[in-house]
Amino acid sequence: MRTIDWVDGAVELIDQTRLPAECVTLRLHTVDELVEAIRRLAVRGAPALGVAGALGVVLARGDLEAVARLRAARPTAVNLAWGVDRAAAYLAEGQEAVLRAALRIRDDDIAACLAMGERGADLLQGDRLRIMTVCNTGALAAVERGTALGVVQTLHERGRLAEVLALETRPLLQGARLTAWELARMGAPHRLVADSAGPYLLARGGVDAVLIGADRIAANGDTANKIGSYALALGAERAGVPFIVVAPESTIDAATPSGDHIEIEDRGAEEIVSVAGVRVAPEGTKALNPAFDVTPHDLITAIVTDTRVIHP
Ligand code: MRU
Repeated sequence: MRTIDWVDGAVELIDQTRLPAECVTLRLHTVDELVEAIRRLAVRGAPALGVAGALGVVLARGDLEAVARLRAARPTAVNLAWGVDRAAAYLAEGQEAVLRAALRIRDDDIAACLAMGERGADLLQGDRLRIMTVCNTGALAAVERGTALGVVQTLHERGRLAEVLALETRPLLQGARLTAWELARMGAPHRLVADSAGPYLLARGGVDAVLIGADRIAANGDTANKIGSYALALGAERAGVPFIVVAPESTIDAATPSGDHIEIEDRGAEEIVSVAGVRVAPEGTKALNPAFDVTPHDLITAIVTDTRVIHP
């Protein structure tokens, strides 16, 4: 399965808003279509956004305002701006050079996820591992294979996975809709848990490691990831469970000194007062909806990238 690709002159991607009910592929021909797909999370997850950004520069055909709109479509995952900038660096050399650069980013992502899977699985001790994770960090968040869920996949292939506890990930339910779908396709044992059950289940002793992805890792190791990650990190620290971030080098933002400088996307009240489009809160209820949080580096046991293991 490829989450996103360049096919016959257009960007093709799986519309993740329709999963798990149906697996529909969208064909996008313009930057504005791609920006809309990014904003409504039809394509999402930091590595996939990096590839979307790079392929979007091909769609922009030299229109610098379109490139700027694409770069700003979502603020927290640094990979989007990274992918746009990498491809845009070839604009002066023409469309073919931009396309070659974007396809290199796609191919590098596939290789990076394989490398992270191996490195992460090598790092973990034990042969019947119970893993907790949040959001979706699988193939759907990248190109062919994921980051934290890529490690889970490698553990499963090596026969070392006992079970995954996947947090449902309110408000948009990436854990319930996407991670459970991917784990079922892998044939990996898993159970879905409410987000608020995470720290308690860690305290109860049923988890060997927490594996999460990242949207932006600051120079000091502070890590922005899906809202709920920080609560898991606190719970893991208290329970003495390793808390491991798995992300490609492209997610490390050396220009951002610490987590305080990371812009956190606020996605507005509607996603909170409703569940799957059904309003659950009374009319007029106000809401706060930070899509990400920041885990301070001292709560992170290790950051596994495609080239190294960092102990922040
Ligand atoms: O809002 P989303 O679904 O784009 O958030 C995604 C996450 O927080 C992922 O954990 C992160 O991008 C890493 S994906 C390998």
